[in-house]
This record gives sequence, C-alpha cells and structure tokens, in this order.
Amino acid sequence: MVKKQKFTSFTLFVSIIAAIGGLLFGYNTATISGAILFLTKDFNLSTIAQEVMISIILVGALVGACFGGILTDRIGRKKSLFITSIVFIIGTFIVMIAQTVTMLFIGRIILGLAIGVVSLAVPLYIAEMSDPTHRGALVSLNQLAITIGILLAYVIDYFYAPTGEWRSMFGVAMIPAVLLFIGLFFIPETPSFLAIRGKKDKALKILKKIEVDTSHSEVVVEKGTSKKRVSWKNLLEKSVKPALFAGIGISIFQQITGINVVIYYAPRIFQMAGLESATSAILATMGVGVINLLMTFVALWIIDLVGRKPLLIVGLIGMSLSLGVLGIGFLQTTGTASIISIVSLMCYVSFFAIGLGPVTWLIISEIYPMGIRGRAMGIAIFANWTCNYIVSLTFLNLVGFFGKSGAFWFYGVICLLGLWFVIKKIPETKGKELKEIQKYFKKAK
Ligand code: BGC
Repeated sequence: MVKKQKFTSFTLFVSIIAAIGGLLFGYNTATISGAILFLTKDFNLSTIAQEVMISIILVGALVGACFGGILTDRIGRKKSLFITSIVFIIGTFIVMIAQTVTMLFIGRIILGLAIGVVSLAVPLYIAEMSDPTHRGALVSLNQLAITIGILLAYVIDYFYAPTGEWRSMFGVAMIPAVLLFIGLFFIPETPSFLAIRGKKDKALKILKKIEVDTSHSEVVVEKGTSKKRVSWKNLLEKSVKPALFAGIGISIFQQITGINVVIYYAPRIFQMAGLESATSAILATMGVGVINLLMTFVALWIIDLVGRKPLLIVGLIGMSLSLGVLGIGFLQTTGTASIISIVSLMCYVSFFAIGLGPVTWLIISEIYPMGIRGRAMGIAIFANWTCNYIVSLTFLNLVGFFGKSGAFWFYGVICLLGLWFVIKKIPETKGKELKEIQKYFKKAK
C-alpha cells in the first residue's frame, strides 16, 4: 500500500497550467450553441450547413485524439501540449476573421484537432505528475476546467447575444490559448516520459520536486526504462488487452448515456419541457452549466477518499433514475410536469458530474502501462469522440422515433448497462501507484 504523501504547490501549479487545455476543450465545444443563431443569419446557412458547422469540431477531435496518442508517446506530453496551444491560437484566429463558410469550417476543424489532443494530453500529463494519494483530485481538475469552459461559453454567448457578435464569442478563447502557451514554458516534462526516453536522472529530479515517494514510482520500478521504443503490438499483449477494453468501454458509456444531448441541446430540451420563452430556456441552460461545475467540485473533493468505483456506481444509478423521471415528466404538459422535467434534468447532470464526467478521464489516464499510455488512451478517446458525434447527430431522430419520453428512457437503459460494465470490468484505482494498477489487469487476463 502506498503511504499518504505530501501535496506540493508545484504539483498544483503544473496541473492548473495543463488544465487550461481542459478549459479550451469545454469552451470551444459549447460556444457554438449561442453562435450558431447568428452564423445562420449572417451566412444564410442551410440546415445541413448548420449541422456541419456544429459537428465538424467533433470530427476534428476524433482525428486529433488519434494523433494525440502517437504524438504524446513520440515527442512527449509537454511538447504535444505546446504544439496544441499553437494550433488553438491558429484555429481561434481563423474563426475570428473568417469571411466565408469554408473558412469557418476550416477553423473549426483545426480547433477540433487541438481539442482531440488536449482531451488526451491533459489527463495524461497530470496523472504522471501526481502522487497516488492526490491523483484523483488533480486529474479531475481537467474535468473541472472543462465544465468551467462550458459555463463560460454559455455566459459569453449570453453576453454577446444582443449584438450578435459571434466573432467575439469565438475570440474569447484566444485568452486561455495564449495563457496555456505561456504557462507551458514553466512546467517540466513528466518523469514517466523522461524515463521512457532513458533520462532517468532528470526524471528522478522531477519526482523529488513534486515530492513523490520514488521507491514505488513506475519510473523506478519499471524495467523497460531504456530508450527502447514500445511498439503498437504491446497493446495486444494479454495483460494490456483487458485494460484497453475497460478504457474503451468506459469512454463509450460516458457518451452513449446522453450527456451531450443535454449540453448541446439544453435550450431546446427546456423548451420541450415547457419553458417557452427563449430567455428562460437560456437561463435554465446556464443553470445546467452551474450545476455541472458545482457537482464536479464535489467529485474532486471526495474522489481520493471514497474511490472511483463508488462514484461511478452512484452516478450511473442516479443518472438512470433521473432519466426515468424525466421521461415521465415529458408524458404530460402540466406546470407540475414541467417542473418535474427540469428538476430531473438537473439531477441527471449532477450525477454525471460526480461520476462518469471526471472518473472516465481519470481511469483512462491510470490503467495503461507507461510506454504505450498515450496510444492506448488515444484509442479510448477516439471511441469517446466518435460516440459523442453519433449521439449528437442522432438525438433529434431518436426523439422522432421513440418520442421525447422514449428517447430519454432509452438513455436510461444504457445507463443500467453502463452500471453492469463498471461493476464487472472497472478496477478500483484509488491510492494505487500507476504500476500497481496494471497488476490488476495482468491477473484479469
Ligand atoms: C465529456 C464531454 C461533456 C462534458 C460535460 C466531459 O467529461 O467528455 O463530452 O461535454 O464532460 O461536462
């Protein structure tokens, strides 16, 4: 068992810098919800063009996740973040000055690529920089930053809505992008990556700086800490396969349980629930952003105390119950029914925020061996973005097919499947060294 370790302000500092990448992820995925109204007006967008405008960023992200995996294992976690911060600056600049729809598409696909890379590199970087007793909270700073980014996007959209300044809505992202770029000059490469490259002395120096108990760290324990490259084939090793499967599974469930239906379509869902005026629907959407952020704080607070699995289990049970009630609320059109729908939607988001939201990113940053960690995460995160894309694209058809209640019950049933998956396939990783976690999968083969 790993002993309780000291928590250094340096670790917190490097984690916060990296987490700016999470903020850019949240902001850039959510800001379109407000901007699309004005883009449609200014460029006379057809329905298909609107759909492409919204979803193209997800396509960029799923490609970016694949690149990110290879990049982080090849050139390192920090250098990958560095390149990505420049890509964010370029993408934001293009959408800010875009004069044509094509330019907007190009800008958004570039932003998507960067989002795909940070969605992988940030949890990876933080996991490798933290000690086992604080890793849960530190890696979850990434999810906290994502939720801050989403809320910020809702607020900024609301602020610029009266004037319809979509360029400013997109442009605000330049501030965190530049901050990330500058911040990266002040943070080191992770000890694990340095060890993979044979720079063990440098790795040990950093471990000392972050006051990690070096006697257990994978940097010291790992035998393969030479310059030898670990190949893709290692992903198919018997001991790695169950971890790969667990990571892909949890990533898929994070998306197919429907969270982004709420994040991307919230105003429309609130209108379905009876909030007819656009202003009240938008305000309720901000409520979603606030609840999401606050409950992520709660998760961060308790994740290293109660563990990952209990949070996932409680989260998934809560999500499926909330969706059940939400479906019932949609069966009627009375005032009470609409209150029931709104409250259950908020509960659903809260349960996501204490469970699947933060824990998914954490688990996939913890369960893979260090030499192939980037690539293995890339595969899981590719699955995450692909499902995100499919769910966002099919939601309105699903409502057409099953009806409003049926659509939400459908996601509710998937939550129960997710619950089964978590109980059966996900190990408890609380307080364990990264190296120790892989032993679980070696036994599981
Ligand atoms: C998910 C995103 C989602 C966000 C909501 C993240 O963990 O990956 O798809 O929009 O949480 O907070």
